[in-house]
Amino acid sequence: MLANNYSYQDCLNHSVKNAWTIDDCFKGRDFDFTKRFLPDRIAGVEGISCLEADEKLKLNQIRGNSYCHIFAFVEEYIVPMVLDHARRDVYGDETRLRFLLRFAEDETKHQAMLKRAMTQFETGFGQSCGVIPGREDVAEIVLGKSPLTALLLTSMIEWFTQLHYVEHVRDEDNLDPLFHDLLRYHWIDEAQHAKADSLLIEEITAAMSEEEKQAAIGELLELGMAIDGLLAQQVDMDIAALEASTGRTFSDGEKAEIREHQQRSYRWTFIVSGLEHPRFVETVGDVTNAGLAKIAGAATALSS
Ligand SMILES: [Fe+2]
Ligand SMILES: [Fe+2]
Repeated sequence: MLANNYSYQDCLNHSVKNAWTIDDCFKGRDFDFTKRFLPDRIAGVEGISCLEADEKLKLNQIRGNSYCHIFAFVEEYIVPMVLDHARRDVYGDETRLRFLLRFAEDETKHQAMLKRAMTQFETGFGQSCGVIPGREDVAEIVLGKSPLTALLLTSMIEWFTQLHYVEHVRDEDNLDPLFHDLLRYHWIDEAQHAKADSLLIEEITAAMSEEEKQAAIGELLELGMAIDGLLAQQVDMDIAALEASTGRTFSDGEKAEIREHQQRSYRWTFIVSGLEHPRFVETVGDVTNAGLAKIAGAATALSS
């Protein structure tokens, strides 16, 4: 039994009260390319010794663009997943149904918002930056795992989305204001989604055996490793984008230094900050105590 105080009614009330549109977020603005888009805890560029300040700024902005892409990418599977859970009890609790339909609609809105951000980015940055392909293939792989695995992955993503904004972005005054707002508006919805994930996990684990729950943790870690492989591809695409935008060709040693910093940063941003999030750890512990050591071990391995 999960020990949370969440309810679909509470999620629905917050969602209705804080509803927003993509235009509310953009307010007709473009990005300011004299500013950083992300705090360094997320972008991980400041410690790279072979880059000058203007090159670090460009890499920070390239990371902003890939941040948008990777969120749109991983959220691809969440829409069909949430709709499946909504259908499971379509004539049951009306409040649950109303919130889950809003949840799915929120994610389609986020995808449209993030894609618009990437279009504006390309225009303002002056070149297109490579981003990892295969979002539909990845969605198929995630949805091919057990429903608990997909929900655990979603819970992890939705908790780290909040952590990124609340702990690392909200109080940063010097970020590009539009990018700051993209993260703020996303966080408003994700704060409710993360609670609903816990409620859905509670519903489906009630009828699951300990073996099935442990298998889901194993599958989650397999997905984490697959995501890590995709992030490594994104690092190389970012280095190519940085070379194109600066007109500089990096030596093998310089590329290795950038790759090392960026791999550590991508891992923290998209995997470790989720695996270590206290609410996510609590959720895993509620599902099965045996999962705690496994996720802690994975977080440690990806932090080295
Ligand atoms: Fe989202
Ligand atoms: Fe979400």
